Amino acid sequence: MNRRTPAVPLLALLLALALLGTGCTGGVEGTPGAAGLRDPYFPGLGNGGYDVTHYGLKLDIGPAADGPRAPAADRLRGTATITARATQDLSAFHLDLAGLDVESATVEGRPAAVNRAGKELTIRPAAAVEDRLRKGRTFTTVVRYSGSPQAITDADGAEEGWLRTADGAVALGEPTGSMAWFPGNHHPSDKAAYDIEVTVPEPLTAVSNGEPVSRRTADGRTTYHWRTTEPMASYLATVAVGRFTTRQSRTPDGIRLFTAVDPEAAARGGSALTEVLDEIPAVLKWSAEKFGPYPFTSAGAIVERTGDSSYALETQNRPVFPGPPDTALLVHELAHQWFGNSVTPRTWRDMWLNEGFATYAEWLWAADHDGVPIGESFDEAYADDANWAFPPADPPTAADLFDAPVYGRGAMVVHRIRLALDDDRAFFALVRGWTKAHRHKNAATEDFTAYVEKATGRDLTELWDAWLYGGSRPPKEG
Ligand code: ARG
Ligand code: ZN
Repeated sequence: MNRRTPAVPLLALLLALALLGTGCTGGVEGTPGAAGLRDPYFPGLGNGGYDVTHYGLKLDIGPAADGPRAPAADRLRGTATITARATQDLSAFHLDLAGLDVESATVEGRPAAVNRAGKELTIRPAAAVEDRLRKGRTFTTVVRYSGSPQAITDADGAEEGWLRTADGAVALGEPTGSMAWFPGNHHPSDKAAYDIEVTVPEPLTAVSNGEPVSRRTADGRTTYHWRTTEPMASYLATVAVGRFTTRQSRTPDGIRLFTAVDPEAAARGGSALTEVLDEIPAVLKWSAEKFGPYPFTSAGAIVERTGDSSYALETQNRPVFPGPPDTALLVHELAHQWFGNSVTPRTWRDMWLNEGFATYAEWLWAADHDGVPIGESFDEAYADDANWAFPPADPPTAADLFDAPVYGRGAMVVHRIRLALDDDRAFFALVRGWTKAHRHKNAATEDFTAYVEKATGRDLTELWDAWLYGGSRPPKEG
């Protein structure tokens, strides 16, 4: 130590004390993270200032009241442990949660202030831990919550969120339902790993995404622990609670398979259902040849009763089907594992990249297995007026995100690229290159058009203008 300059450390000490007095230890004052990510359709969805890397969800599920007639999965008590990296110096941040009561929250182990305004939770960490939320640092938030989770009616009238079934519940979330059962950054641009532990009363089973880690039973209640290590968008998270017949196996390529079938769906589906589910390995193998290596460790299916949900969803690893699916629907939902689940839309405007490719997968399957030439599928879609209501790259409102043009016209865009290349080997190499370039990431429409132009070395402006962005039906020739 230099004894000749005692004034310097003294000044430093005074300065540090002054800064502490303002609650600012590093000279930079944190600011609150944004309450939304300005999605074109849902501006308030998601939150700014942080990036979730892992959700640890512990859900205790049971009947709201005792007695044999009480619905089995009406009450939820949850603990969400959210690990996130700050992308700015944060003084506070938001989480999305619909319904349910927040009991408490901590950030970095210290009690945090929680403010609730509709679906927005504002979490304000204790001043003592604020420096742990500096840009680039990883911090942990724990939210304890409970209540009776609700169904959410989408803009298009579909029901999602927490859907009660005859013997339990199923959670579905495309586009906004996942906030009905856990707090988080509910926008597709923030993908994360998950550990989902669900405790249910016997004899119910809880099925979720990823792979099973453990199963423990105590006092008539069983905890099922499922782990998803590959990044997952929150709209693809699911929990299905009910009586299920479950099966585990492996494809010849080593992909782990888990299927769960509601007994009533099994009775209704009969041997046809068994046959469809037995096709999963072949569909995965065929898809991998077309689209590139399967992006996940495990696959499978959850088959609910007809009417338990208003739509099938490509929930990660294992799609949920409302009733026994046919092969075309199975092919569609498994194709989403590449298009949507691995390569995820950047915003909800990029939905056609999911549905266009999944629909095209159905056309490809029909061409390879059912003798339906791809040109016939294209012609049928082309002739259908419903596909021309709006351009796939720009659905007018949130109510149109799942309308015919996003599916049928989206698939037509893909086929027009194939026709423009006039070389099937080059076309499928292009498709595999696309899933490889954006594997486990997000991509927007502009990323796709730029990718195709770069990979082919061609200016495809006319194709995009006519088929992707144009307001009217272009001529088939030209
Ligand atoms: N992505 C689902 C499919 O495989 C459809 C989801 C529909 N969601 C809705 N809110 N309508 O086609
Ligand atoms: Zn789809």
